[in-house]
Amino acid sequence: MKKIPFGKPMINELEKDAVLNVMDGSILVHGPVATQFENKFASFTNAPNAVSVSSCTAGMHLIYFALGYGPGDEVIVPAQTHIATAHAVELTGAKPVFVDSEKDTGNINIEAIEAAINSKTKAIAVVHYLGVPVDMPKVVQIAKKHNLFLLEDCALAPGAKIDNIHVGLHGDAGVFSFYPVKHFTTAEGGMIILKDENLSKKLKLIKAFGVNRTHGERKIPGVYDTIALGFNYRMSEIHAAIGVVQLDKLPGFLKIRKNNFKALESNLKDIRGLSILPQPSDDHLESCHYCLGVLLEEDNFSKRSEIINLLSEQGIGSSVYYPQPVPRMSYYKEKYGYDKKKYINASRISDGMIALPVGPHLGADDMKKIAEVLKNIMEKIT
Ligand SMILES: Cc1ncc(COP(=O)(O)O)c(C=O)c1O
Repeated sequence: MKKIPFGKPMINELEKDAVLNVMDGSILVHGPVATQFENKFASFTNAPNAVSVSSCTAGMHLIYFALGYGPGDEVIVPAQTHIATAHAVELTGAKPVFVDSEKDTGNINIEAIEAAINSKTKAIAVVHYLGVPVDMPKVVQIAKKHNLFLLEDCALAPGAKIDNIHVGLHGDAGVFSFYPVKHFTTAEGGMIILKDENLSKKLKLIKAFGVNRTHGERKIPGVYDTIALGFNYRMSEIHAAIGVVQLDKLPGFLKIRKNNFKALESNLKDIRGLSILPQPSDDHLESCHYCLGVLLEEDNFSKRSEIINLLSEQGIGSSVYYPQPVPRMSYYKEKYGYDKKKYINASRISDGMIALPVGPHLGADDMKKIAEVLKNIMEKIT
């Protein structure tokens, strides 16, 4: 039986050669390849500045730390997201204040943001859920009105655009993830893009301990000063070398994702017991098709695990984004309490969605098979 995994890194000889090339040299960290990857990502997104980091989580934490957030501060975070979006705030001592998602797309409910703003609020974080861009001009307006920093968590959204401008450049900073099942990978890794040159310089300084000289810049080996408190959140040359090669492949990957998405969407028409999470209906929002999310009808929520297992028995991988709204996760529930009524849309998506694969490791036949198998399952169990 042919397996259809949810995600598969598309690595070949080009990435392997690039890694070996780095390993044959003497610089494994803090060298020219990470800079090359930053420049290449900046030119792909048209970003004025790009800062490579060890992960998206590290990048978001680095930004909040650089901005000086701490106890007594609040950051607005979507309830429907990966735990990392909230942890990045929580790690500084500031409090994530969760806002429910829209009913259909799973993106933050923009209408509900202003009600969560108070005198402690310092920033708004949005997530482009499953690669469908948030309608940023509306959020930018709110952030400007209240003088708040606006962070875009672009972990699932490289290639997504709003008004033809890449996500990450609408707010004050955007952070991407290159974890293996993402649109492209560096194994572990992330990238920050931003317009503010001074903040970019600060992020570069504090992602590397706050020391004032990199190896290449030191006049006397081993001699440096530390001018700020900082982390070790650097991306190694090995990871960056994979990224440089993968980034060349990204436009091709994005085309395949879009074609697969369209094929699967049309094959799934008229299927019983579920709907497809919608793509943007408005031309100014351009999705990058991370996966195809189906939402079961509420009566079928209890059958989700069975459906996922039956898909898996037929070789079809799937996933759930995200398994619980963040405020319902034990850590946050225990610390801040959980009001069920506040996160109805995020809960519905967490409890009823199944993410189906559309990645570049798959083609039209796979999309047919996924639809056929899912249709049969739904007919049998509903
Ligand atoms: C929306 C979102 N933000 C952040 C992350 C964390 O990314 P990383 O593993 O690069 O820290 C993920 C991971 O899946 C994610 O989905």
